[in-house]
Amino acid sequence: MLLLTAFFFSFLITTSQAADVFLTGSKTFEITDYSVVKKGVSTGNCIQSDPFTVGGYQWAIEFYPLGYNQSNSEFVSVVVRLLTPKNVVKAMLTHHFQDWNTNGWSTDTPIDSSLLTFSANGYTGWGHFDFMRRSSLEVSNYLRNDKLVIKTNIWVLKDSSSFLMPSQLGAA
Ligand SMILES: *[C@@H]1O[C@H](CO)[C@@H](O)[C@H](O)[C@H]1NC(C)=O
Repeated sequence: MLLLTAFFFSFLITTSQAADVFLTGSKTFEITDYSVVKKGVSTGNCIQSDPFTVGGYQWAIEFYPLGYNQSNSEFVSVVVRLLTPKNVVKAMLTHHFQDWNTNGWSTDTPIDSSLLTFSANGYTGWGHFDFMRRSSLEVSNYLRNDKLVIKTNIWVLKDSSSFLMPSQLGAA
């Protein structure tokens, strides 16, 4: 979280126009039977969370127990998918595993605080194909009683053209 906060502030400071507005939300995805899920997929297959809404858009978390593709088959991959993409959507995201020892969230998993572009013609999903080495995950505090919990935070960049300041609203 520290990295992300630092990025967020530098982003605001270096923007010469009005500060960008982010609509934020998060989703917790519980995988209650990790070993069963793993047995049922091959590399490139995922299980998807229920859809959830952040910033007016529908998203889902995808978890690939055997990796996103052959290059990442030693890893578990975590991706966020923009469902039914109609617009170009810019967003930042972070993912964490729940730590069953501390009840906090993983700090040794990758954090990327770049602004990502989701679109029907480009990428509808972004994430970490090498989120954690599967052999490490399976002996970690993130897996207990075959249960794994992923939390994804999303910051959706609000379209500045549709953003009305309160004074403009009053003058209308
Ligand atoms: C796996 O996906 C990444 C990202 O799209 C790509 O760079 C890489 O070449 C892919 N590897 C294989 C074996 O398809």
